[in-house]
Formats: sequence, C-alpha cells, structure tokens
Amino acid sequence: MKRFTFVIAVLVGASVVLLQAGGQPIRARNGMVVSQSEIASQVGVDALEDGGTAVDAAVATAFALAVTHPTAGNIGGGGFLVHRAASGDAVAYDFRERAPAAATPTMWFENEEYSFERHHLSHLSVGVPGTVAGLHLAWEEHGTLPWSRLVEPAIALAEDGFTVTHDFSASLKQALQRIQIYPASVAQFSKHGVPYEAGETFRQPDLARTLQRIADLGPAGFYEGETARLLAQEMAANGGLITEDDLKAYRAIKREPIRGTYRGYEIISMPPPSSGGIVLVEMLNMLEGYDLVSSGFQSARTIHLMTEAMRRGYADRALYLGDPDFNPEMPVTRLISKSHATDLRDSIDEEHASVSSPTSFTWPSESPETTHFSVVDAARNAVSLTYTLEFGYGSGIVVPGAGFLLNNEMGDFNAGPDITNANGLIGTEPNLAEPYKRMLSSMTPTILTKDGQLFMVTGTPGGRTIINTVLQTILNVVDFGMNAQEATDAPRFHHQWLPDRISYERLGFSADTIALLEARGHTLQARNGGQGTAQLIVFDVERNLLEGGLDRRRPDGGAVGTDR
Ligand code: DON
Repeated sequence: MKRFTFVIAVLVGASVVLLQAGGQPIRARNGMVVSQSEIASQVGVDALEDGGTAVDAAVATAFALAVTHPTAGNIGGGGFLVHRAASGDAVAYDFRERAPAAATPTMWFENEEYSFERHHLSHLSVGVPGTVAGLHLAWEEHGTLPWSRLVEPAIALAEDGFTVTHDFSASLKQALQRIQIYPASVAQFSKHGVPYEAGETFRQPDLARTLQRIADLGPAGFYEGETARLLAQEMAANGGLITEDDLKAYRAIKREPIRGTYRGYEIISMPPPSSGGIVLVEMLNMLEGYDLVSSGFQSARTIHLMTEAMRRGYADRALYLGDPDFNPEMPVTRLISKSHATDLRDSIDEEHASVSSPTSFTWPSESPETTHFSVVDAARNAVSLTYTLEFGYGSGIVVPGAGFLLNNEMGDFNAGPDITNANGLIGTEPNLAEPYKRMLSSMTPTILTKDGQLFMVTGTPGGRTIINTVLQTILNVVDFGMNAQEATDAPRFHHQWLPDRISYERLGFSADTIALLEARGHTLQARNGGQGTAQLIVFDVERNLLEGGLDRRRPDGGAVGTDR
C-alpha cells in the first residue's frame, strides 16, 4: 500500500488549501467492526471474541443497530451483504425488500394524479421486509455461533434500554414531528409524546419481544405467526397491501457479486437490484485511464475527470438498471467492461464539462438515512453490509404490539409508466413496481482485494450519493495513499448526471478550485451537512493489522477492534 501523509495540496498557481489529513485509524490485529453505533460495534466484537466469524459479528451488529440506531438499523427494512471468505470465495446476499403480490406500476396514482404521499409516506410505500431472512441466510452459510446468541444482545438492549445521546435525542425530536399520526410510533419513540433527552434511558419492550421470537424461531419468528399477523393487521387496517402470504413467501437471494479491477486491485461489490456495484466499476474503469496522482487530490482537473465519470455512470444507471429477475436483458457484462469505459472515456473532454441530456429528468430528492458497517475477523473473512428503511425511521410506522419500524422502500420504484418529467418524476421501464419485484437501489457494500488477499472493506449510506462516496473512499486509499481514517475524513462531492451539478461538502473545495471548475462549465452547489457516513476497514498486510476508519460526520459511531 502506498502510504504518505499529505498536509497541503498545491493547486494551479500558487494557491494552497489546507486539507484534513493525518487522522489515525483504530488499529487491531484480530478483528474489527466499524458501524454507526459504538454499542452495536461492541456487540459485534463480543461475538468475534466468543469465537464467531465475521458473519456472526455482522448478524449481531445488525440486530443491535435495529435497537440502538432506529433511523436506519432495522428488522423491518432490507439491504445487501457482500461476504468474502479468507479462502477467496465471495458471495452477495440480496435481502432487498420486494413489492407485495398486489403491487402495480400505477399504484402511486390517485384520481389519475401521481401522489408523492402514496409513494413515499403511506402504508403503500412499505415493501416486504428482507433483513431477517438475509441475515439468517448468511448465518446459515457462514456463521458458527448459535443464532439465538447473536440476537440476544439486541434483546437485552431493547429490554434494559441504553443511554440516549445528544445526537439520538435530536434525531428522535425531529422524527416525532413526522410520526405524530401513528400512535404506536409516538409510544415507541417518546415518553407519551414528550421527547427523550440526552442521558435518559430508552427502552423498547415490544421490540424486545419480537426479537425474542426471532431468536427462538429464526425467520419464522418474523415472517410467520405473531409478528406476521401484527404486521398484516396494521396493513389491512390502513390501506396497505402486505399480507401474511407476502411475508411467508419472502426469500433472501444469494447472488454473484459484481467484479471489476482497478489498478491491480480486485473490486467485489453488489449486483442488481443494486446499481451500486455496476456504476462503481464503470466509474473506476473510466478513471483508470487517467493519472490521478499527478493530477492531484481535490485539484480542479481531478474533480473534473471524476465528475465526468460520475455523469456517465449515473446515466447508465437510469437507462438500464432494475431488478435482474424482471429485467433479464440488462447489459451488465457490457456496462462493467473495460471497452465500455474506453468508449465513455473517449467522450470526456478534459477541459470542458459535458452536458447531461436535456430531454431527460432530474432525480427526486432522497433522504440521507441508511446505515453501513464493515467487519473483518481474525481469519480475514470480511463482511460489507448496507441496510436501510429508506427515509430516516422509514415510513415512520411502528407495527403496533411488535415495536419495529416499517420501511418506505417502495419509494425507490419509479413513479409510474411514461411520466418522466422535469419535476423529478421518473417513469423508465426497468424499475416500475410489479408484484414481487425488488426496487432499484444505490447501496454499494464493497470489498477490495490485492494479490488474492483482503485489502479493504467499504460502504456508506447516502441515497444516490452512496456510489460516489464509495468511489471516493477507494480513490483516497488506492490513488492518494490515505490511511483508513484520512480516507473517511476527506471532503466529498457528488454528481449524478441529473440534475447537472456538482454538490460538494461545504469547505471541501477552495474558492480557486470552484472558479476553475466553473470555468470548465460546471455548476456547483455547496451542500448542508456531510455526504454519507462511510465505515472503512483497510488491511495493512505488511503489519498484519486492521485499520478502522470511522466517519465522524455522525457522532455516535464506533470503530471497535480486538487483539484477543
Ligand atoms: O436503496 C437505496 O439506494 C436507498 N433506499 C437508500 C436510502 C438511503 O441511502 C438513504 N440514505 N442514506
């Protein structure tokens, strides 16, 4: 691994900008979990110290996050897990939510008008959850500790409670405004309508009972019996579509990961129904044709080239990608080929911004709430897992009596046939709602290897910014020689084809750089808040040490390692 600490970046001319550099990762030899909840990371490391594998630790961490990080940690949502065994075998587990049997492409229409409320904020926005099935499938294949042992820490956290932090208190207060209409949600996330303050203990007894059923019965404790009955009852009473049959029929799917190479590193990432792996590999393939090191970190030229790669990758995403089981013709092999990247690179003008097609659309806005964590064990088995409820706290609907939040992932389906328009509605075919279909995602859990050895585990939340944040963590380490902490600290930016602009983290670009990019024809917009919350592990082969990079854009996370 190239390794140098840079303190200043020299831009064109004499101007310099100070960059955040020199942050040190957490180091450990025998295992590491990096997640958005320090409590959940510790739960994962406890599993490792009990002799568990990376998958055991991931399952324990995921259940703990469902308790301690309810904005995105979940049992009522879905996601993706990429596993690479120390032997080199890699597999992707798809536990994305899917549409219920009664879904239709026009289900978001009311009196022939598209309704944002129906699509994103109603009982119709809830997809059949996948998390419990996905975790169980990965555990069946790669776990060694008993299943119930992995759920028990989450049960204890739900039953006994944990201490509310300032960030969690603020998040609950904000959520309370949106969930007011759901009495079970208000009961779960406040003290009879009074918000929790930092320092208080937050307990979730209904959730503890649901988790106990999952601990005792496995997926049947969620997809059948009491939990399924309560969920289906909530749906039937409120115009939702999910039935007990939909729940019973849900299956997680094992898929071949997307594979690519970048400057001698192998990329292993998530295939459709995520767009993440394909677009990531496309962008890396394009960028491989440029010498980014001499171009310089965060120089106008580097940002320009990355932006042009992003523009092209995201255009392909919109044009081609959806659930593979409903889109058998998706040109995946072509999209991730080096020759496709060469064609795309040939269309990049190194001095001038391209223009995203004016006939197409802008994307609808998206919330920044999902969560990612990375795990490596002593044997160097690795897990990269991203899961979500879609919006923060998902649909905001807690299943009465069952204590868990339902996702609003159906909002990731396109709005309806042929209604693509400049206001942000998308009507392209591959991602329209259909019975049992999985909605397209951007989640990009990714693992890199070098010379057959584990090198890096990365991923992040952030809606459509996810793929670009993962891209930047990789370039930061591979091209710019950053350690895991510097690579998460470094400022980020995003371009997604349409709208045709670069959004960047405030203070992430110097005024000179902005001027140079504008001169090339780019439109720029500073964003409020950070882009994503990446969680990295880099394996330093020479020292045989794991480096955990924790994203401080959110304060409650933890990179926890073990030397035991
Ligand atoms: O699957 C997706 O791409 C989105 N539903 C993820 C949502 C998300 O990342 C929101 N924020 N972090």
